[in-house]
Amino acid sequence: MKTLKTQVAIIGAGPSGLLLGQLLHNAGIDTLIVERQTPEYVLGRIRAGVLEQGMVELLRQAGVSRRMDAEGLVHGGFELALGERRVHIDLHALTGGRTVMIYGQTEVTRDLMAARREAGAPTFYQASDVVPHGMKTAEPFVTFEKDGELYRLDCDYIAGCDGFHGVARQSIPNECLKVFERVYPFGWLGILADTPPVHEELVYARHERGFALCSMRSQTRTRYYLQVPAEEKVEDWSDQRFWDELKARLPQPLANELVTGPSIEKSIAPLRSFVVEPMQYGRLFLVGDAAHIVPPTGAKGLNLAASDVSTLFNILLKVYRDGRVDLLQRYSEICLRRVWKAERFSWWMTSMLHHFEDHDAFSQRIAESELEYFIDSEAGRKTIAENYVGLPYEAIE
Ligand code: APR
Ligand code: PHB
Repeated sequence: MKTLKTQVAIIGAGPSGLLLGQLLHNAGIDTLIVERQTPEYVLGRIRAGVLEQGMVELLRQAGVSRRMDAEGLVHGGFELALGERRVHIDLHALTGGRTVMIYGQTEVTRDLMAARREAGAPTFYQASDVVPHGMKTAEPFVTFEKDGELYRLDCDYIAGCDGFHGVARQSIPNECLKVFERVYPFGWLGILADTPPVHEELVYARHERGFALCSMRSQTRTRYYLQVPAEEKVEDWSDQRFWDELKARLPQPLANELVTGPSIEKSIAPLRSFVVEPMQYGRLFLVGDAAHIVPPTGAKGLNLAASDVSTLFNILLKVYRDGRVDLLQRYSEICLRRVWKAERFSWWMTSMLHHFEDHDAFSQRIAESELEYFIDSEAGRKTIAENYVGLPYEAIE
């Protein structure tokens, strides 16, 4: 067995692990990342594309914002479509000047990978059988296998940045965790296409046929989604069927302008709300999707991962610089305050905009009426806007 040593062992090289690694590296704190997949596989996953200002600032702080600042699209608003009615949510005006950045998670990950390579900080890709040990002791370690060799990585702390299906959360005894979960009876069928966006802003459409979302990655690449039943098969959706259904759910003027083209990616993602409490166990800290999942309707998944990273980074900085080990025990409590607010908003946006087959006629009308109330009232639009641009990061003390 080969023995390695670092200060913070990071499991998972998704955006959470890479961003935490970059911030710690810049602060002179040693990290080593172990990742199950290859870098190409990690970059092949098509995920979200809306960054809150807090995350944009964190990426700048980490020194990985050059391409995002050059190529990302700053959006000062988005549109809600309810049948034929179109409502502009003016994020900029409603939040005192805040905006969001349209820049794909794939690109964020690519930039973080490049920065880590340049910094010469180690990442072990294609590591198998990754297991954290001794989390309740002062000498935790991670074991894994790579190229037929067994490794033991000694460390001070372990960051579980390994996503929803990762090993970190699963290595915490069940009786120490409380799980909160809601599974929705539908999924999102998404396609990526090299076509110009149908509208300059994102359009979230509520329709009796089901929800639809018009998003984009750039001025020449679009990402569209349709609500589909949970058991739907992607093979049953030709490009033509997708475009026809999307047009049926959009207001007529938008449907008329929609430019269609061949899809370059097509997949179905289930919708789930999930939170585990607490987000820590001894010297193991869960970050991002390892601890919580939101349905994508509020574009909060990646942004919540970033606020966890910010919290853990700021705590570790105080631990290493000022010996403030007392702050470590507060990690979960600080993160969860913001996590639950984003869970609430994501659940609400999902409930307002989707068609629920099992809801009776009364519930459907109440949902319609609730959404109309919010968009017809300035206070309501403000509430939507301040959540969408992202609530402030929690102070660590
Ligand atoms: N050992 C090592 N690595 C693992 C293991 C394991 N047992 N299990 C999973 N991983 C890796 C995955 O291959 C992946 O690269 O951990 C990484 C986790 O990355 P993400 O799933 O992207 O999670 P995270 O980094 O928290 O990113 C935030 O929020 O809503 C989402 O789309 C958003 O994916 C984004 C996420
Ligand atoms: C996306 O572009 O993939 C996207 C945008 C907004 C969302 C969800 C996904 O709310």
